[in-house]
Amino acid sequence: MSAQIDLKLKNIGLLATPYGGRAKGGRDQGAISFVPDAEVGISGGRFFYAGPRGGCPGAAREIDCGGRLLTPGLVDAHTHLVFGGWRHGEMARRLSGDSYLDILKSGGGIIETVRRTREAGEEELFEKGLALLAEMLSQGTTTAECKSGYGLSLSAEMKQLRVMERLAREGPLDLALTFMGAHALPLEYAGDRAGYVSLVCDEMIPAVAEAGLARFCDVFCETGAFSLEESARVLRAGREHGLLCKAHVDEIDAMGGAEMAAEAGCVSAEHLVRASDEGIRALASSDAVACLLPTTSFCLDKDYARARDMIAAGLPVAICTDFNPGSSPCLNLQFPMYLACLKYRMTPAEALTAVTLNGAAALGLCAETGSVEAGKRADAVLWEARDLDYIFYRFGGSLARATIKNGEVVAGNI
Ligand code: NIG
Ligand code: FE
Repeated sequence: MSAQIDLKLKNIGLLATPYGGRAKGGRDQGAISFVPDAEVGISGGRFFYAGPRGGCPGAAREIDCGGRLLTPGLVDAHTHLVFGGWRHGEMARRLSGDSYLDILKSGGGIIETVRRTREAGEEELFEKGLALLAEMLSQGTTTAECKSGYGLSLSAEMKQLRVMERLAREGPLDLALTFMGAHALPLEYAGDRAGYVSLVCDEMIPAVAEAGLARFCDVFCETGAFSLEESARVLRAGREHGLLCKAHVDEIDAMGGAEMAAEAGCVSAEHLVRASDEGIRALASSDAVACLLPTTSFCLDKDYARARDMIAAGLPVAICTDFNPGSSPCLNLQFPMYLACLKYRMTPAEALTAVTLNGAAALGLCAETGSVEAGKRADAVLWEARDLDYIFYRFGGSLARATIKNGEVVAGNI
């Protein structure tokens, strides 16, 4: 007896998708599957069939995709989605010569967003987050990560995490939650770095783990933020409380952060603009995914990470927005996809894997999502395009025609 197919997407001009249940590095990163003239069957919110026309049983509902391109739903594995206020005033300061770290040192930057996030009510943060999630969905993102780190006190971090958890429960995307209390030193701890690191390790991490509010623990390892030793201590405390580790490393200064992240057993290492050859090798021989953030380089007008060297070393690369109010106020993953080709010299096929399967792997979700394959969550994007190259060419807007989440068309129209 054939299975009950709830929805059939027919007349797909091209299905382009990575495949499998693990991160892809090296040559495998660009080895994706292309099925022309395809169809996809969905049952119970999951893909039941994905392949050539004629292979899928009939369904109660059928949608004609008009010969367009279908890919997996996009996975944005690095965002700072929940925060109070914005920081558009920093643009003028940066234009007059202040660097990102100068602004942070003078009480602006992350510290300014901390002030605004502490002032904001939970409902206000929730409503703002919900509107941002709707925007992401309309641009093709179906799964995202979301970090705390704009509270920097036990109560304000817990407030931010509760909002994130409610967005995960009630919002339209799947969200993976990350605790990032070690994002900056709050003003009230100026001069007492050790005291703040102890607060993060001995009070915040146990409370977050106890409340089950996060799956990951992240740290900003950087000049002006946390040292290698402090970062390693935070990640160790996270692990001891059952959290998986991530780390922002080697973004602005080369600190040996990539080596530290590999040593700490991180599931992903973020930024990596100044990562050393040794650091890249260390990450490649660990299980980590490199989460690269080209819109941050673009926005700060800085150098770009060495994605080609990472791919050559066999390190799986994910591309994410790093959406935040300071260094990357860009929610649309399609722009970093474009920069991945232009600036990282990745091929469209490698970049597609980077924003789907490898993004999912950075969140421990690649058995669930990241490819259009029988058994995975039915998350997909139908593009206003006929082939893959086109969506890496028409930059600046959104080419997502419709987004399908758990087997439902949730944004756009077909
Ligand atoms: O990943 N680098 C640290 N954190 C963010 C920036 C946060 C902010 O500027 O508000 C990042 O770029
Ligand atoms: Fe970040």
